[in-house]
Amino acid sequence: ASTLGAAAAQSGRYFGTAIAAGKLGDSAYTTIANREFNMVTAENEMKIDATEPNRGQFNFTNGDRVYNWAVQNGKRVRGHTLAWHNQQPGWMQSLSGSSLRQAMIDHINGVVGHYKGKIYAWDVVNEAFADGNSGGRRDSNLQRTGNDWIEVAFRTARAADPAAKLCYNDYNIDNWSWAKTQGVYNMVRDFKSRGVPIDCVGLQSHFNGNSPYNSNYRTTIQSFAALGVDVQITELDIQGGSATTYANVVNDCLAVSRCAGITVWGVRDTDSWLGSGASALLFDGNGNKKAAYTSVLNAL
Ligand code: XIL
Repeated sequence: ASTLGAAAAQSGRYFGTAIAAGKLGDSAYTTIANREFNMVTAENEMKIDATEPNRGQFNFTNGDRVYNWAVQNGKRVRGHTLAWHNQQPGWMQSLSGSSLRQAMIDHINGVVGHYKGKIYAWDVVNEAFADGNSGGRRDSNLQRTGNDWIEVAFRTARAADPAAKLCYNDYNIDNWSWAKTQGVYNMVRDFKSRGVPIDCVGLQSHFNGNSPYNSNYRTTIQSFAALGVDVQITELDIQGGSATTYANVVNDCLAVSRCAGITVWGVRDTDSWLGSGASALLFDGNGNKKAAYTSVLNAL
């Protein structure tokens, strides 16, 4: 195969990218994105602040731009993200307690309802665990509504769209030896044992000097998969762009049948949220394939 999407499809997997609505008029960008990828995540356009800027007033203009571009070009869409401490609109930041809990439920119903039957997988809850050695939850306004907020979010999303896979998504849960990874693992195990609806774990996999790729990544993927959930690599970027590390990530995913696919967090280095100096993606700022691209294509 000569593209990332077609190469991933050889093993029944997908290869995706984050897409920004504001770049859909850039033909250099859309040419690469359309050619190489068969899964799309809206980089910001389906987040809480974008979709519900005022309480009860939903805005799907930019989310639909990304969605329609993807589907018109034959791609599937991952939904990102429904419940998160970041990129909350001001009105939500100022809520607490039962009114915030109800606002979260209403938000999930509004957004999942709008896209009902159209989304491959939702990142239902994003980044709910703490960094460091606690293995526990992150303190946030959502967490302070009660520890059951995550399972309530998943049950709400399941009822709103029974066809979408429901994922828990986080960063720094790639290294099996880290407490945060174990905290999420224990939550997923608990959810599966109690019948809380969860179908997938999203490993963001933003690798850098402080949270580098570790060879136990395959153990992490295998361990989550053994709980009975899919694993999706949802936001891959590697600071410095090591071709070897990119190949390691692909090989680790391919080693686990329940690793469903890989999404990189942007098309060209100039599109990366880390800035082009990080050299973290597969195409340079001129749209040329980097060594990391060839390494990924050969590994798929
Ligand atoms: C980032 C986007 O790439 C930026 O454009 C935005 O300014 C901030 O959010 N984890 C996530 C993503 O789940 O939503 C984040 O995306 C990157 C980290």
